Amino acid sequence: MIVVTGATGNVGAHVVEELAAAGAEVRALTRDPEATRFPDGVSGARTEDLPLEGATGLFLHGAVAWQLGVEKLLERAKESGVRRIVTLSSSSVLEEADPKDNPIGAMHRELEAQVERTGLEWTHVRPGAFAVNAFQWADQIKAGDVVYGAYAGAHVAPIHEADMGAVAARALLTDDLVGRTPELTGPESLTFADQVRVIGEAIGRPLRYEEIPHEVAREKMIGGFVTPEIADALLRFSAGCVDRPQAISPEVERITGRPPRTFAEWVADHRGAFGG
Ligand SMILES: NC(=O)c1ccc[n+]([C@@H]2O[C@H](COP(=O)([O-])OP(=O)(O)OC[C@H]3O[C@@H](n4cnc5c(N)ncnc54)[C@H](OP(=O)(O)O)[C@@H]3O)[C@@H](O)[C@H]2O)c1
Repeated sequence: MIVVTGATGNVGAHVVEELAAAGAEVRALTRDPEATRFPDGVSGARTEDLPLEGATGLFLHGAVAWQLGVEKLLERAKESGVRRIVTLSSSSVLEEADPKDNPIGAMHRELEAQVERTGLEWTHVRPGAFAVNAFQWADQIKAGDVVYGAYAGAHVAPIHEADMGAVAARALLTDDLVGRTPELTGPESLTFADQVRVIGEAIGRPLRYEEIPHEVAREKMIGGFVTPEIADALLRFSAGCVDRPQAISPEVERITGRPPRTFAEWVADHRGAFGG
């Protein structure tokens, strides 16, 4: 049986779907199982109960691990007989080594190291920028044709959550990725301005991205998970990607046998969120 944490999330929902479609027994964790419908045959359970008994595999979502306490969670996994952990990490672990300059990478790298220290089998899935980050523009797009944000020319290679789910499921279901750290990207490098244009093409509106100063963007970003430190890290990352197309990883195609979905495909799957 495989336990999926963060099972209602962008990536976790696809991990659950892939595992269920492959006929695996799945326990999907959420803070609110009563309110959640999972695919047929998948049992829902409460995240904070840490119900790992009977599990052989664990999909580990960072935010959930940090919230519950990583040591407690990993100890429980070992006691319960889990043999393999697939960590949802981040390609930010490959950037700036100084944790002060790269807090997001440092958090994920520490989580990876804690998983490695369990002595269990592990795979760390290391995606770059998620395509779902474009939801940050949804309210502006529904309100008008201009999206205001920092660094119009910053490149990312947005990855579809379904491709990450497919890779993570492969890591849980086969031995192919044990001890590996697949870095995942989408199939093309796009600037923020390109992404907004692609969304506009999909919903039939002439959208454009207008750059605002770093400081103004920083003020807008801070709140919730995005502390001033995280906002600075994200903006520093974007600044470093201006006019620098991202390298495209071959891993999604190598692992799943199909090319990663394009950003236009992602928009088509989520058109409604942009009022399309
Ligand atoms: N965005 C990017 O570009 C990017 C890039 C690389 C790596 N990452 C990493 O990927 C992860 C995000 O993945 P995602 O988008 O799939 O996640 P998500 O959709 O934001 O969240 C997944 C689920 O986790 C549960 N959850 C969230 N916060 C929680 C908390 N504090 N305590 C307990 N449960 C919580 C929620 O489920 P319930 O409400 O059902 O409990 C949520 O649906 C992060 O670790 C991030 O650092 C992101």
